[in-house]
Amino acid sequence: MREEAVDVDALSVVYRNSVRAVDDVSLVIKRGELFALVGPNGAGKTTLMKVLTTLLKPTSGRAYVCGLDVVREAGQVRRRIGYVPQNLSADDELTGMENMLLQCRLYGVSGREAVKRSRQLLEVVGLLDAANRVVASYSGGMRRRLEIAMGLVNTPEVLFMDEPTLGLDVQSRLVIWDYIKTLRKQEDITIIFTTHYMEEADKLSQRLGIIDRGRIVALGSPEELKRRIGGDIIALEAEGDVEGLLRRLSFVDSVSLVNGGYRVKVVDGEENLPKILNTLNENGVKVRKVTLIKPSLDQVFVEFTGREYKEEEPPDYLMQTFIRSSRRR
Ligand SMILES: Nc1ncnc2c1ncn2[C@@H]1O[C@H](COP(=O)(O)OP(=O)(O)O)[C@@H](O)[C@H]1O
Ligand SMILES: [Mg+2]
Repeated sequence: MREEAVDVDALSVVYRNSVRAVDDVSLVIKRGELFALVGPNGAGKTTLMKVLTTLLKPTSGRAYVCGLDVVREAGQVRRRIGYVPQNLSADDELTGMENMLLQCRLYGVSGREAVKRSRQLLEVVGLLDAANRVVASYSGGMRRRLEIAMGLVNTPEVLFMDEPTLGLDVQSRLVIWDYIKTLRKQEDITIIFTTHYMEEADKLSQRLGIIDRGRIVALGSPEELKRRIGGDIIALEAEGDVEGLLRRLSFVDSVSLVNGGYRVKVVDGEENLPKILNTLNENGVKVRKVTLIKPSLDQVFVEFTGREYKEEEPPDYLMQTFIRSSRRR
């Protein structure tokens, strides 16, 4: 019996246009974890989450949620999970409370119990005061919080949230983080969220998987992953035999080229940066630009993919969907 919150085995999803959105992913998420799936737009985060929430059938491989097969036992999986989709689903013309009651009805909770649970959950996400206002009057952050409360009506064992802070300003994002952390403390629940903000995954999750082009390229706690870089990074723009000169230095771990610049891994960057510059200078190498970079998840991404991590806003069509569903439906 598989009893992990999530257990994925050699899972692939190929869309009809033959895009391999999820490519041979294996992954275990333990009960009670606060887990982030992080990666650039188009990496396959939503696709993977749709499989885990039974909305999409995988092309091959298996996935279990709470020990249940997401394909063969989809109905039972649905009863055990909550899902906050990337595209908002609350009805604009109804009040926050009405949306909650509707969601309760969808999950077979009715009468006094529905009202009680709705009030409780609206309180958890700080919306009790706004409960009787129509959602059309809510800010983007309030909507996201309502969606989270809606995802909780069936008291799920696992809560899936797809980009819960998408399209929000920094302030509202912080508020959402706070609610996610509180939720984690109060309820006995596994929380799995996606984000394209590396920093968010770093600050918020206990463990995370970096996904790129459908593959999990790194998996671990934020600290573990940053430690795996094994030192600081000095980014250099220079002409000459940079590699040959620096490889000879004992404190230099490796020298590689990323996007036309040199990426030098060193032990104790502050201490050794002057020595590096001296060596280059003495050998007639002209340095145009130099930056000392401390380990971050962005750098972990570079380490494992050989590409720069671009934390762009999501493509326009996604933002449009967000804005539209924020205004009316
Ligand atoms: N319904 C679909 N049909 C065809 N391709 C899709 C579909 N949905 C997503 N894709 C493609 O699959 C890849 C992964 O998309 P997605 O899972 O939405 O990534 P993310 O959520 O990380 O941005 C992308 O290349 C995207 O264009
Ligand atoms: Mg997505």
